Amino acid sequence: MTALTRDWLNSLPKVELHLHLEGSLEPELMFELAGRNKVKLPFSTVEQVRQAYEFSNLQDFLDIYYQGAEVLLVEQDFYDLTWAYLEKCRQQNVVHVEPFFDPQTHTDRGIPFATVIKGISRALTDGQTRFGITSRLIMCFLRHLSEEEAFATLTQAEPFLAQLTAIGLDSSEKGQPPEKFSRVFTRARELGLRAVAHAGEEGPAKYIWTAINDLKVSRIDHGVRATDDPKLIAHLIASQMPLTVCPLSNTKLCVFERMSDHNIMEMLHKGVCVTVNSDDPAYFGGYMTENFVALAQAFEMTEEQARKLVKNSIEASFAGEARKKEMRALLQ
Ligand code: HPA
Ligand code: ZN
Repeated sequence: MTALTRDWLNSLPKVELHLHLEGSLEPELMFELAGRNKVKLPFSTVEQVRQAYEFSNLQDFLDIYYQGAEVLLVEQDFYDLTWAYLEKCRQQNVVHVEPFFDPQTHTDRGIPFATVIKGISRALTDGQTRFGITSRLIMCFLRHLSEEEAFATLTQAEPFLAQLTAIGLDSSEKGQPPEKFSRVFTRARELGLRAVAHAGEEGPAKYIWTAINDLKVSRIDHGVRATDDPKLIAHLIASQMPLTVCPLSNTKLCVFERMSDHNIMEMLHKGVCVTVNSDDPAYFGGYMTENFVALAQAFEMTEEQARKLVKNSIEASFAGEARKKEMRALLQ
């Protein structure tokens, strides 16, 4: 059997459910925005920035990621950031996306919530009009901040509920259990928002249980530590709770030493609803196609397995039934 080619994987229709818009900021755009906004960067060349992208854990990465986001100041910056990501999606045949944004990274620097969400939403609307890429936007709370700060952010989001589908939870996981945010997630669900949460990336399998039971999430972001707990794996299979797995992110942040150590294919084989995603592609070495290629190289992935991974993403998405039907048809 020959390995799946990059061309085949690139033209496979794909769906992305775990993508931080701030993590799609390529060094070239970072420099352009820094120049436009007169923000001083601690780097003088694009090559220097790329060389700094060596991480030994999640926190190492987050420190650089939050620093990079400081070049985003006005609505057009958030538009340009989102638009650059959508252009990548078009090149890689990603037909539906559910990106995250971190409002607190910006509002804590004095940028109005409205500036952030208006820029992002306008680009997503244009992405549908011009490229036919459908989307649902997810607002994340930073888990290293307080519950009170998450509540304040949810209040700021209330005038923009029409632009939002779900809330999420990201940033430093260790020592920040999901249940710290139970009340704000309950309030968001009362407002009609769905819920997802990062859990079991660096944190324990226990955090996956509390994200499910306390936050009542529809999906788990990452979730790779689930294989530490056989009862949890059995539950994930029975409930078909989706995991948005990010292979290149996990090797870059040393969650797995090598791609061949990754557990996604083992979970797929067992019947867990696993999906492939890029997380922070500008920092981790690739977008959707590169993540599929990395898996196809490390494992003998078949066309059927690649299609099943996309099928899982379609079923796990927040797209309406009519759009899901269209996307299923694309895979035939
Ligand atoms: N984990 C937690 N927080 C994040 C990540 C991640 O992989 N990417 C951006 N924020
Ligand atoms: Zn993530």
